[in-house]
Amino acid sequence: MKNIFALMVSFLLMSAAAWAAEEIPAKAAMCLGCHGVNGNSSMPGTPSLAAQNARYIYLQLRDFQEGRRENPIMSPMTAGLTRPEMQELANYFSKQKLSSKGFKADPDKAALGKAKADETLCAMCHLGEFIGQNEIPKVAGQNFDYVIKTLKDFKAKNRTNDAGNMTSVASTLSEQDIENLGHYIAGLN
Ligand code: HEC
Ligand code: HEC
Repeated sequence: MKNIFALMVSFLLMSAAAWAAEEIPAKAAMCLGCHGVNGNSSMPGTPSLAAQNARYIYLQLRDFQEGRRENPIMSPMTAGLTRPEMQELANYFSKQKLSSKGFKADPDKAALGKAKADETLCAMCHLGEFIGQNEIPKVAGQNFDYVIKTLKDFKAKNRTNDAGNMTSVASTLSEQDIENLGHYIAGLN
């Protein structure tokens, strides 16, 4: 009896895995090594893509390909992608579940970060608790080190692909503000 049960469970798991594998776009195989299985990345400096807005992912891929956003890793990665492939990748990653990486926010810094976010009206664009909308990314629960890196990139104008919204916001933030915002944002969700 036990054996039959075990057999049934493994059959179900196998067919679930086969079904999931069918859903993964062919080109996603070359993304998972860095962005993680199901788009949950644990590689330093690498954003998770799980549950990110499809529209945002698609536009970033186009920006990397066309040189509006530059990164020595991602720019070449997008060179061979067609628009439909980008759309398919964006749809796939947006439908994955963002998992908690066990980030432990410093409560004092997170509280200061929240106060700064309220004062700077981040929610005007990113909505409450950074859930994002359309081409405005969800940042809640994003990897701490990536949030810090990308805010510093906006501040230093190394990342300029959003018509100046984020570069002007980031220019008002101190290094300490960025650190505090990182604790607040990465700890959300
Ligand atoms: C060798 C590692 C690596 C591979 C492979 C890789 N990426 Fe990336 N990706 C990165 C890093 C690192 C960044 C952060 C770039 C930065 O700091 O601006 C990034 C950024 C991104 C972003 C921007 C996300 C955001 O929140 O702004 C998207 C979208 C993305 N990658 C999609 C993909 C897709 C789709 C693939 C597969 C076709 C892929 N990446 C393959 C390392 C990788
Ligand atoms: C006027 C609208 C606006 C406001 C206000 C705003 N943002 Fe953004 N933010 C954007 C847009 C648009 C992007 C996408 C930029 C792009 O296309 O590269 C973005 C991108 C980001 C990213 C990069 C996410 C990623 O995955 O790479 C972070 C982090 C971020 N914002 C944090 C903040 C914080 C923190 C505040 C408040 C201090 C803030 N934003 C205020 C519009 C805004």
